[in-house]
Amino acid sequence: MRIAVLRERRPNEARVAATPESVKKFKALGAEIAVEAGAGAASYFADSDYAAAGATIAIDAAATLDGAEVVLKVQRPLDDELNAMKQGTMLAAMLAPYADREAVKSYAGKGVNAFAMEFMPRITRAQSMDVLSSQSNLAGYKAVIDAAATYGRAFPMMMTAAGTIAPARVFIMGVGVAGLQAIATAKRLGAIVSATDVRAATKEQVQSLGGTFVMVEDEESKASETKAGYAKEMSDAYKKKQAALIAETIKKQDIVITTALIPGRPAPMLVTEEMVRSMKPGSIIVDLATEQGGNCPLSKPGQTVEVNGVKIIGTVNLAGRLAADASSLYARNLFNFLSPLIDKTTKALKIDWNDEIIKGTCLTRDGEIVHPALKG
Ligand code: NAI
Repeated sequence: MRIAVLRERRPNEARVAATPESVKKFKALGAEIAVEAGAGAASYFADSDYAAAGATIAIDAAATLDGAEVVLKVQRPLDDELNAMKQGTMLAAMLAPYADREAVKSYAGKGVNAFAMEFMPRITRAQSMDVLSSQSNLAGYKAVIDAAATYGRAFPMMMTAAGTIAPARVFIMGVGVAGLQAIATAKRLGAIVSATDVRAATKEQVQSLGGTFVMVEDEESKASETKAGYAKEMSDAYKKKQAALIAETIKKQDIVITTALIPGRPAPMLVTEEMVRSMKPGSIIVDLATEQGGNCPLSKPGQTVEVNGVKIIGTVNLAGRLAADASSLYARNLFNFLSPLIDKTTKALKIDWNDEIIKGTCLTRDGEIVHPALKG
């Protein structure tokens, strides 16, 4: 079985879907791996290291894809990449199917069996394959580092001969994987940290990291989590109460980091323009949700906007800016996903189409869109 690893061509993408480590592990399972020349360069993995791990280095995308049964990518393929895939190819990548439904149709049209890694079910068996977790964790860390780099003051309290510097107040909105890492990182930098989420279960997690939990706690908030562990869209009445509490909290903050997402829906709007204007000049907002519409209406993807002295950083692909670590974790996620699908005796691909992980991630099969969230 031949696996192709393409060089990522989309803007601002420095990650790669395989590392010399994952190549070696795939080889041990009897697979052949073709890596496109330069695929790992932006993540600091040299072609020579892939070759030493047992990969063939192919000169371009077409040569990489030649004869491949499986294609591993970070982001969804460009048209010419997709067109070079043969019918029946298995494609595994972060395909952003909600953002690009047309692309899902073209995978089906091409007869490519496409798997969206971000649809990985949140079950124990799939934890090591969970790309949202591996990438969000790094994004949460990087958001705090970016905020600290832009902030014109220090994070920790400092008592010096010239006087005392007050610690920064950091407020994290959305306590999923990214939010938890943001809390931990801001704490390590010495800030006073508080956080909010609609899922009441996060209260204990925030407190265990040394943060203060800020939330409207009522009957509705007790049932705010889906069985899959994600947030539900809350009622208008709840949103109003929460907004009032948040408005009071935000006024007192130096740094606000927003990470709130609802799968398949636009990101909830949490920091209004009025709230931004209530903050002190010099404050920083980092909006991690800009690619899903943003948690603040003023944030712009890939840009830093200044309003009344408050800088709003609209981040895009933060994990990609820690490309070496992000690629290592992502490549392990892909290996953990794919390795059980390689038959130990025949070394060929053997997919159990009834498996929960396969059903959860498979978008298209044999020319049809099969994922229930995308059909019709
Ligand atoms: P996410 O990226 O979908 O959302 C980020 C956070 O925003 C979530 O905590 C969500 O509750 C929150 N949020 C949504 N709307 C909000 C609003 N209006 N106000 C404030 N916060 C809001 O979530 P993520 O990071 O993917 O994690 C979701 C859950 O899944 C977590 O409990 C996590 O621990 C769990 N998980 C389970 C895994 C497993 O069992 N395999 C793997 C990874 C995560």
